[in-house]
Amino acid sequence: MTAFLKNVWYMAAWSHEVADSALARTIIGVPVIFFRGAGGKVAALHDQCPHRFAPLSAGRVEDGKIRCGYHGLVFDASGACVENPFSPVAPSAARVARYPVVEQDRIVWVWMGDPALAHATAIPRFEFLVDPAMRNVFGYTASAANYELHTDNLLDLTHARFLHPAFGGDAYNPEHTWKQEGDVVTSCYLVRDIPNPPLFELTFKAGGKNVDLWDDITWRAPACLCLESGFKITGTPRSEGLATPSAHIITPQTADRCHYFWASGNKRDNPMRDEELRSGLSQAFDQEDKPMIEAVQRRMGDADFWSLKPVLLKTDVAAVTVRRIIQRRLKEEAEALAETAGA
Ligand code: FES
Ligand SMILES: [Fe+2]
Repeated sequence: MTAFLKNVWYMAAWSHEVADSALARTIIGVPVIFFRGAGGKVAALHDQCPHRFAPLSAGRVEDGKIRCGYHGLVFDASGACVENPFSPVAPSAARVARYPVVEQDRIVWVWMGDPALAHATAIPRFEFLVDPAMRNVFGYTASAANYELHTDNLLDLTHARFLHPAFGGDAYNPEHTWKQEGDVVTSCYLVRDIPNPPLFELTFKAGGKNVDLWDDITWRAPACLCLESGFKITGTPRSEGLATPSAHIITPQTADRCHYFWASGNKRDNPMRDEELRSGLSQAFDQEDKPMIEAVQRRMGDADFWSLKPVLLKTDVAAVTVRRIIQRRLKEEAEALAETAGA
């Protein structure tokens, strides 16, 4: 059975996904309902009524509270029952578990572990998403694959040559370097001196000159990745090129499903229209990455990744390092839990 890290912040949604109505989303196997309580602050409750266990998401949001759609009990953002339509007294025993939530950088983050350890300062920043100089496009891909398979995919961009022909095709022959600083891993790809792929010419005008392309992707637990994709004319410094940031944040839904949130930032004067950009990214993530990763998951079934003895290539080093960090942190969490239980 797959274990998930508990004491980390998981991305639950883009801010715009939690609007007037509630959003139901399963996070590490737990059904959670997200809605805006008093003052528009996002609340996260276990998506299960304590009366007869109806999903609260089958009810409706009323004045910053959620009314169960079965017998009408009303719960506030803290999970307390505040109304029974058939009695003047709300049952105090009717309480729904609530999870800490932080909304930052247009992202809703949720903490599924020990609430005493939930510190907002540990949340990775994606500041370009709130930078007024940027135009951002946002996407969400529901994937029938384990979240670590998506992390592997993002940390090993050699797949771009075969899976994403528009990113350069056979000319995509990158040099790979990587680094680890504590629990932060960066995987870097550099392609030198190739004709600018037509797709990139829409964003970065090379005027017929050859370009160098770089992709530096940084991972933080549990699966929060920030990618800088850069373009420059060969022989010029990076500072004269164009660097575009993108967010790739993956949250486990269950052992073999995940939520893949992606967003790309572009300078406001980028000639590419948002719709063109969104459909280009969706082509890569929804039509190219997702079917392959889901096919990998089907081949693997519920077998443990390491039990299948995967062949390890040099270019796997960043992804393997990340898998080991997750294993180490899972072990640390289990030991801390055992210590508390034994205390
Ligand atoms: S199941 Fe929710 S009020 Fe009965
Ligand atoms: Fe990809």
